Amino acid sequence: MNPGDALTTKRMRAAGAVAALVLSASGANAQAKGDREFGRYLSSSCVTCHQLSGRYDGIPPIIGWPDESFVAIMNEYRSKARPNPVMQTIAGKLSDEEVAALAAYFGSIKP
Ligand code: HEC
Repeated sequence: MNPGDALTTKRMRAAGAVAALVLSASGANAQAKGDREFGRYLSSSCVTCHQLSGRYDGIPPIIGWPDESFVAIMNEYRSKARPNPVMQTIAGKLSDEEVAALAAYFGSIKP
């Protein structure tokens, strides 16, 4: 291997490390923070029942929560740890990304 090759190898390793870093950073971000605009779009199927005003009318309000709480509860419906069949069905159709997006959107709405 001549010195030029060694340098190329080093550069490639450095580029690989940067790419890995960017990938892991964006992956972590996608989990921690959903896409609020996507959540707004998805929320149309929720606000037929859940009041955006935060008013309780027999159906609990779901706005202004920390993302983690919202995601945790949705996961309880998905895993059927929470018994409500309506919400089990609704939550069961959502992907992790969609739940995170809904969490970001509803969490951003203040009562
Ligand atoms: C058909 C009416 C209906 C629709 C549509 C609906 N929900 Fe619900 N949701 C309910 C009811 C009823 C409850 C209370 C269930 C229970 O007692 O566990 C509930 C509970 C919840 C809770 C837990 C509230 C709490 O205080 O524990 C969350 C979070 C939630 N829904 C999110 C959503 C999201 C997100 C959507 C849209 C993807 C949605 N719901 C669509 C009726 C609905």
